[in-house]
Amino acid sequence: MKLNVVTHNPGKVKEYQAEFADFGVEMVHVNREYDEVQTAYLEEVVDKGMKELYRDGLRDFMIDDSGLFVNALKGFPGVYSAYGQKTIGNQGILKLMEGVEDRTAVFKCCIGCMIGEERIIVTGTCPGYILFEERGDGGFGYDPIFTPDGERSFAEIPVEEKNAISHRGNATKLLIDELKSRGLI
Ligand code: IMP
Repeated sequence: MKLNVVTHNPGKVKEYQAEFADFGVEMVHVNREYDEVQTAYLEEVVDKGMKELYRDGLRDFMIDDSGLFVNALKGFPGVYSAYGQKTIGNQGILKLMEGVEDRTAVFKCCIGCMIGEERIIVTGTCPGYILFEERGDGGFGYDPIFTPDGERSFAEIPVEEKNAISHRGNATKLLIDELKSRGLI
């Protein structure tokens, strides 16, 4: 089976390919736009994106949307994580968190998948804490300021170890389970 992965990020396609290889699913990179609605929920962004792509004639595809939700900031940057990273960046988040005791945060990843007329939306999470300074050279985005275990930042954890516990890794596991239970893979 072939599954179109709609994203601007070829790295994501590789990650998904590695996860789906065992199930004989071939991932095809489709680099195209879809409207990302302004809403507080990743699920709504994904739902609207799926409807638009389906209406435009795309079949057998998946899309995802993820973000970092900081509890003390009422969920910010959340669905605006890409924008937050481009504008205030990690230093900006650390500044907003100065003197804030509650460091809890959660990474979330929502994946939407459409195969034939079957529609699946799953959300994977990874709870953790916002550090007091950037740590580590690995990873990307908010990795240097997020720690899942209160010790090492995501940027200090080897990528395979990160994928095993990350929001995207957990969402992928949920998607694979759902595809299996519906007999689609
Ligand atoms: P997207 O789902 O790729 O659009 O992710 C939105 C934004 O969330 C990205 O630009 C990153 O800033 C941030 N983000 C998503 N996943 C991660 C992650 O695993 N580590 C660090 N930042 C992430």
